[in-house]
Amino acid sequence: MLDQDVAAARTAFAGAADLDALAAVHVAHLGNRSPVALARRELGALPPAARADAGRRVNVALAEITAAYDERRAELEAARDAHVLHAERVDGTLPTDRRPRGARHPLTLVQERIADVFVAMGWEVAEGPEAEAEWLNFDALNVPSHHPAREEQDTLWLDPPSAGVVLRTQTSPVQVRSLLERGAPCYVVAPGRVYRNDPLDATHSPVFHQVEGLAVDRGLTMGDLRGTLELFARAMFGDDVRTRLRPDHFPFTEPSAEVDLLCWVCHGASAAGGDPCRTCGSEGWVEWGGCGMVHPVVLTSAGIDPLEFTGYAFGMGLERTLMSRHNIAEIRDLVEGDVRLTLALGLEA
Ligand code: DAH
Repeated sequence: MLDQDVAAARTAFAGAADLDALAAVHVAHLGNRSPVALARRELGALPPAARADAGRRVNVALAEITAAYDERRAELEAARDAHVLHAERVDGTLPTDRRPRGARHPLTLVQERIADVFVAMGWEVAEGPEAEAEWLNFDALNVPSHHPAREEQDTLWLDPPSAGVVLRTQTSPVQVRSLLERGAPCYVVAPGRVYRNDPLDATHSPVFHQVEGLAVDRGLTMGDLRGTLELFARAMFGDDVRTRLRPDHFPFTEPSAEVDLLCWVCHGASAAGGDPCRTCGSEGWVEWGGCGMVHPVVLTSAGIDPLEFTGYAFGMGLERTLMSRHNIAEIRDLVEGDVRLTLALGLEA
């Protein structure tokens, strides 16, 4: 009898395909009403002479069934673990569409891009302090005291005003710093922050960014300036951009010009009688920055002989560059640094 019970239990356990099935047959072969349990309960009814031997045989049968159960359970658990390991595996090489959580600011990225463009041409990136000597921000750039340009630029003076330190109103003082430090020839580009006493409105901010460019060498002409600006514009706005120079006046350049970009929305059509264009105000061109041939007074201020060297310079607003390029209506959007803007611009690619 007991041998049959053991055999029946073995068959049942072996036939259980998984742990649930094994648990289901456990009761029948090892539970309170299983044949071995019943056999054990009946031992008390046997005559004492037979009881010891019967008890031993029941115990052996129980131990065999339990061992068979444990063995099958161990097998099924191992099979389950192997299955889970396989089913829940993660392929770390799969591509993901998850975006990085942070992003650098568009102004940072555009400054890096500009630096790359000029470094690729052999220029250096130069820097100057934001709290700048009034002399470098104005005098050395041929803006004498009491010249209206000092007021026009809404200068912020640091206390005490007699110390002659301003929050630089432009990156142009880096021209003089670079020449004083490096001498000529000199090819530098200087992106940075500038300050003016302007209220924040749609297109103005008291803090904004410019990039200054300066090339001083023997025999440089307006043609070199033109070519450099053309290359710069293409790197920033794409190969189909068109630029033009329009006469203007700046104290530190002579002659001076304004650099315009052909409107990338109407391509000039609005100015030639086409539909009105909001981007260029139907002018056909959008102002980008100022430029010109370095004034001899600036070269002299920096100890460079204007008879031996000539140079050209240019300066653009970076917020304006970004706003134009990406149709950003409010300068505020650039000031606030919302990471969604950077991601939307896709500059970080
Ligand atoms: N510094 C000028 C400004 O802030 C921009 C500028 C004009 C820079 C002409 C230049 C230049 O280097 O040649 O309005």
